[in-house]
Amino acid sequence: MHRDIAMIAEDVGLDYLFWMGKWMGFGGATGFWQNTIEPMSMASAIAPLTSRLKLFTTINPLLFHPAVAAKIISTIDNISGGRFGINIVTGNTLEELEQMGVVPEGYGDYRYEYADEWIRVMKMLWTQGRSTFEGRFFKLDNCVSDPKPLSKPYPGIVSAGLSSEGLRFAAKHSDYQFVGLRPAEVARVREFAAEEGRTVKVVTSMMLLHGESDAAAEQEFAAIRDDLDTEALENLIHSFERDNRDSYKDRTSYLRQPNTVGFGSGMPVIGAPDTMAQKLAELIVESGIDGIQFTFVDFVKDLKFFGTVVLPKLKALLARHDIVVADAPAARAAA
Ligand SMILES: Cc1cc2nc3c(=O)[nH]c(=O)nc-3n(C[C@H](O)[C@H](O)[C@H](O)COP(=O)(O)O)c2cc1C
Repeated sequence: MHRDIAMIAEDVGLDYLFWMGKWMGFGGATGFWQNTIEPMSMASAIAPLTSRLKLFTTINPLLFHPAVAAKIISTIDNISGGRFGINIVTGNTLEELEQMGVVPEGYGDYRYEYADEWIRVMKMLWTQGRSTFEGRFFKLDNCVSDPKPLSKPYPGIVSAGLSSEGLRFAAKHSDYQFVGLRPAEVARVREFAAEEGRTVKVVTSMMLLHGESDAAAEQEFAAIRDDLDTEALENLIHSFERDNRDSYKDRTSYLRQPNTVGFGSGMPVIGAPDTMAQKLAELIVESGIDGIQFTFVDFVKDLKFFGTVVLPKLKALLARHDIVVADAPAARAAA
C-alpha cells in the first residue's frame, strides 16, 4: 500500500510523503494506531521506487543516540539522492516511551532542551570531521560520522510542537513547522523564527473527503462521525491528560469537537470536487500557509482522485492569486 501511495503521489506531482512515528495504539474497536510501520525503514524501502518525491519521517531523539541517528539519516539521504528529511518529535504522549523504560526522570520538563542538544550533535557530525561535544545529555569524544548527507548542509528538518518550547525549538532548527490555521498561530511561528534571524515555513494538515455532490460528501462524513471509536478517543485523551502539558488542553478540546475525525488527520475539508477546490483555495489564500499535508480516508483511491480531478482545479484557482503550484512530471513510462 505504501508503494502504491508513493507512486500516485509522485505521478500527480505532490512534493513529499510524510510518515508519523507511533509506538503504541490506543485500543477501541478500531485498534486505533495499533499497527504502524517504523518510518525510517519504510523511507529507505520507498526511496529507490521514487525519483522526485521528498521523504520525511518522524524521529524521537530519546530513541536514537545522535551518532546512530546521524548515520541512519545520512544513509537514507544518500540512498534517496538527497530527498530525505526528518520530523523531530519529543513524544506525542509519554506513555508511548514509558512502556519501553527509556524516559528519564523529569524528561517532560526538558524534552525540547534534550532535542536541541541532540540535533546540534547531529548537525556537528553531518558537517564536520572528527569532533568533540560536551553537553548536559551527550558527550562525544573525537567522534566521526561518514558519509555526510547529500543534502547540504543537512536534510530538511520539520517539527510540530505546540508549546512555547516546541515553537522555540522550531525557530532555531526547523525548515517547516506544523500549525493550525489560526492567524495568531501562524504569526507566532514566524515571529519566533524572526527573533532567531531565520525563516520557518508553516504547514498544516487537512483531511480531504470527496463526494459526487456536497450532500454525498457530508453524508459520508456524518456516517464516519456516527461510527466514532469513542473508546479509542477516550484512551488517547486519557494519555494526554496524564502528561498534563499545557499544549494538551487545546488538543483535548480539539478532539472533542463535533467535526473531528481521526487524530492527527487535520482539519476536515469536505465536498464535491469544485467545492473542495474552492474551500482549499480560500483556506490557502486567507491563511498564507506555505504547505499542506493531506490525509485521506482511503489513501489510494482518494489520493488518485484528488491528484487527477481536484488538484488541477485548485491550481487554476490559486493562479488567480499568483500562487503557483508546480506541474506534475511527465507521465511515468509504461513498465
Ligand atoms: C502533523 C503532526 C504530526 C505529528 N507527528 C507525531 C509523531 O509522529 N509522533 C509523535 O510522537 N508526535 C507527533 N506529533 C506531536 C508533536 O510533535 C507535539 O508533541 C505535539 O504537537 C504537542 O506539542 P508539544 O510537544 O510542544 O507539547 C505530531 C504533531 C503534528 C501536528
